[in-house]
Amino acid sequence: MPEFDFSTTLGPAWFPTPLFTASGCASSGKELSQFFPLRDIGAVVTKSIMLKARPGRPTPRMAETPSGMLNSIGLQGPGIDTFLANDIPWLLQHNARVIVSIAGENVDEYAVLARKLRSVEGISAVEVNISCPNVENRGLVFACDPQASRLVVDGVRRTLGGDIPILVKLSPDVTDIVEIARGVIDAGADGLSLINTILGMVINVDTMRPHLAGKTGGLSGPAIRPVAVRAIYQVHQAFPKIPILGMGGVRSGRDAFELVLAGASGVSVGTATFSNPMAVIDVQNQLREILMSKGFNSLKEAVGFAHRDE
Ligand code: FUM
Repeated sequence: MPEFDFSTTLGPAWFPTPLFTASGCASSGKELSQFFPLRDIGAVVTKSIMLKARPGRPTPRMAETPSGMLNSIGLQGPGIDTFLANDIPWLLQHNARVIVSIAGENVDEYAVLARKLRSVEGISAVEVNISCPNVENRGLVFACDPQASRLVVDGVRRTLGGDIPILVKLSPDVTDIVEIARGVIDAGADGLSLINTILGMVINVDTMRPHLAGKTGGLSGPAIRPVAVRAIYQVHQAFPKIPILGMGGVRSGRDAFELVLAGASGVSVGTATFSNPMAVIDVQNQLREILMSKGFNSLKEAVGFAHRDE
C-alpha cells in the first residue's frame, strides 16, 4: 500500500502538511510554541505587518457573536523593521516555516514592504493582505476594488521578482470574488488566501451604542464557514490550477475537509486557537485520519473533489 502523502504546495512553496495558522490569530507563533513544535504544522502565517509600528484601534475591540467573534484590532504591530529583527530570526531558530503577511496603507507601501522582504532568507511565501476590514476608510480595502487590488499585487510582484511565492488574501465582502481573483492572478499572484473576515457590527442593547470602539469589526469563527466554502468553491471552479489557502471557521478535521473538497490546498486555523491552542494540531490529525478513512492516497487527490462530474 502506498504511504499516505499529506504534503501540499502553494505555488512553488512546498509544505509537509496542509495545516497553517491564520494570520492575526497567533501573532508570530511564540505563544503557540508552548503547546507544540511550530515545525509540526505546514507554516506559521504571521500577523499582517505594516511599515510602521501601530497601536491598533481603541478598546473594546473584541465581541462574542453567535458561533463567532468580531474583532477590530486595527493591524496592531511592531512595524516591519522590528518584526524582521526579532520575529523572523526567532521563528527560523525554532525551525518554523514562515509565511509573512503584509498590509500597506497604499500601493507604494506594499512595494516598500516587499522590498524589505526580498533579501530575507528562509521565508516560504508572502501573504499580501489587501482585505483587512478594520481600516478607517473602506476605500483602503483594496480587495473590494479590482483595479486597486491588481495594482497592489503588480507592485509586490515586480519588487519581489520571481523568488518568493505570493498569496493574496481576499475579502468575501464583494459582489463577485472571482473577478477580484482574476485581477490579482493576472497581476502575478501564485495563490490566494480565502477568506478574510466579514464586516460586521454588534450593538450593546444595554448601553444602546456600538460595542466596539471602532464600531465595525471583522466576523470570524464557525458562523462564516459556509461563506468560506462558497468563496473557495467559486474561485477553484474558475481557476482550478491556482492554489488556495482556505480559512474561515475551521475547528475540526471535518471542517478542514469541507474546505479541501471545495478546492483548498491548505487550511488555516484561526479563531479556534483562542479557545484551544492545540487546534491546528488537532485539526491536522483529524484531517489526516478522515482523508485516509475515505481512501485517498494523498491530500492532493481530495483537493476540489466536490467539483467532480460537474
Ligand atoms: O484588525 C485587524 O488587525 C485585522 C486584520 C485583518 O483581518 O486582516
